[in-house]
Amino acid sequence: MTLPSYAMNQASFPEMYERWLVGPLFRPWAELTLDEVRLSPGDRVLDVACGTGIVARVAKERLGTGHVVGVDVSSDMLAVARALAPDIDWREGNASSLPLHEGEQFDVVVCQQGLQFFPDKASAVTEMRRALSKRGRLAIATWRADDEIPFFRELRRVAERHLGAIADQRYSFGDAASLEDLLRDAGFEDVQVKTISRTIRFDDGEPFIRLNTMAFVGMSTAGKAMGDDERKRVMEAIITESGPVLQQYSDGSALAFELRTNLAIASL
Ligand SMILES: C[S@@+](CC[C@H](N)C(=O)[O-])C[C@H]1O[C@@H](n2cnc3c(N)ncnc32)[C@H](O)[C@@H]1O
Repeated sequence: MTLPSYAMNQASFPEMYERWLVGPLFRPWAELTLDEVRLSPGDRVLDVACGTGIVARVAKERLGTGHVVGVDVSSDMLAVARALAPDIDWREGNASSLPLHEGEQFDVVVCQQGLQFFPDKASAVTEMRRALSKRGRLAIATWRADDEIPFFRELRRVAERHLGAIADQRYSFGDAASLEDLLRDAGFEDVQVKTISRTIRFDDGEPFIRLNTMAFVGMSTAGKAMGDDERKRVMEAIITESGPVLQQYSDGSALAFELRTNLAIASL
């Protein structure tokens, strides 16, 4: 998640993520996941790879009071989370070695769109298991491959004309069977993985295209090697050439596209 932050020349990436992406893109899935995991009054909740904290914040909204903890490796993402919800316990730490207090356990552990970024997925899942109480429920969501999501696939093709092949980490763990195996290997017995599709809507598609292009440039080998001026020029070229794709999925300035995720619900 180390992405160039100059692009919109107005705010840091975590602030742009929160401002433009969380409402339309991440909040609806957080709500769905907390429904699926049957969040109930009194549940203690851990949000792993919480980013700016949408899962933890929705849990807190629903629970009112209670023990809600968010963990992320990025202090910048956590700074936004902290500013938005100072009453939640935000902790900087790695999913492979969760910063838990002695004996601390949770009834609900959620990791929304974080696992695909972890270099050691097995140890992260083992850590989530350690954090889970005996009757606890774990939820892990990872996007399906972008090849299955036409809007994302087409945008990536435009970017690849400028950047060469892009292995997009965001969609790198889309195989439901691998997710299920990972959880069973970590000792989870009751594991169910669903694939869920939803139509995602943005009132204005332009900021989404800009942030998505930033991500392409930031994660590609070619983009990483570029100086600031070249990176900016390439970004603008990709944004312009993405126009027809954006138009294809737009109605006026509003953007709507189908997005697919795997959602695993597991218990011990
Ligand atoms: C796409 S964001 C998802 C954030 C949040 N869960 C949401 O739904 O908005 C991925 C997050 O994973 C975090 N992350 C990546 N590797 C991590 C690791 N090893 N341990 C903890 N967090 C990590 C990043 O800092 C980033 O905030």
